[in-house]
Amino acid sequence: MAAARLYLVVVMVVSAIISNPVSADPDMLQDVCVADPTSGVKMNGFACKASFNASDFFFDGLANPGLTNNTMGSKVTAANVEKIPGLNTLGVSLSRIDYAPGGLNPPHTHPRATEMVYVLYGELDVGFITTANVLVSKSIKKGETFVFPRGLVHFQKNNGKDPAAVIAGFNSQLPGTQAIAATLFTASPTVPDNVLTIAFQIDTEEVEKIKSNLAPKS
Ligand SMILES: *[C@@H]1O[C@H](CO)[C@@H](O)[C@H](O)[C@H]1NC(C)=O
Ligand SMILES: *[C@@H]1O[C@H](CO)[C@@H](O)[C@H](O)[C@H]1NC(C)=O
Repeated sequence: MAAARLYLVVVMVVSAIISNPVSADPDMLQDVCVADPTSGVKMNGFACKASFNASDFFFDGLANPGLTNNTMGSKVTAANVEKIPGLNTLGVSLSRIDYAPGGLNPPHTHPRATEMVYVLYGELDVGFITTANVLVSKSIKKGETFVFPRGLVHFQKNNGKDPAAVIAGFNSQLPGTQAIAATLFTASPTVPDNVLTIAFQIDTEEVEKIKSNLAPKS
């Protein structure tokens, strides 16, 4: 009986660890592990600094709107482990996203996190696309929230006349971002033209045009 009960507990613990239902990042094993980005130690996340203080847990970079005078008319300001070393191993981070009227945060994915946005002001048309190729979309405004499940392609568009801004929460210290168009057309080294011509059913001239349009402006 005792052995059977022990076996059951072991199975439950192991399946809890394997399924890790709470966090996209691995669970922490200590109070804090403030990131030491200068450490040469290679591991999942960052090595811990020997000493730390409050400034390792602080960031004022989301206080003001980011500049949206760029091609997309939007700006993502991240508050992740690269800006806040104290986030290392904690499995959360934020961003602020600002949108000019007409601005677009172009279709992208976060391989390591689900995202939840809270609208600070303005109105946005937002959506994600499931692996069954269904678009799930909605218009959201000040005070409202919307969720983009981990890994799914999503976007936000400001179709309003006024600027808009959101705070985005992530269940990862470093969600990672792959913007679909930029990933395919501005990778270095470049993705071969004959991959893109077939994938998008367009000719080489069109591929070159998109590559040049999306090339980072200096
Ligand atoms: C934290 O320590 C750094 C040096 O490691 C120092 O520059 C900074 O002023 C300290 N900040 C606080 C809030 O004590
Ligand atoms: C955007 O605006 C800022 C501040 O007004 C300016 O310094 C910057 O050069 C502008 N950038 C572009 C790409 O126009």
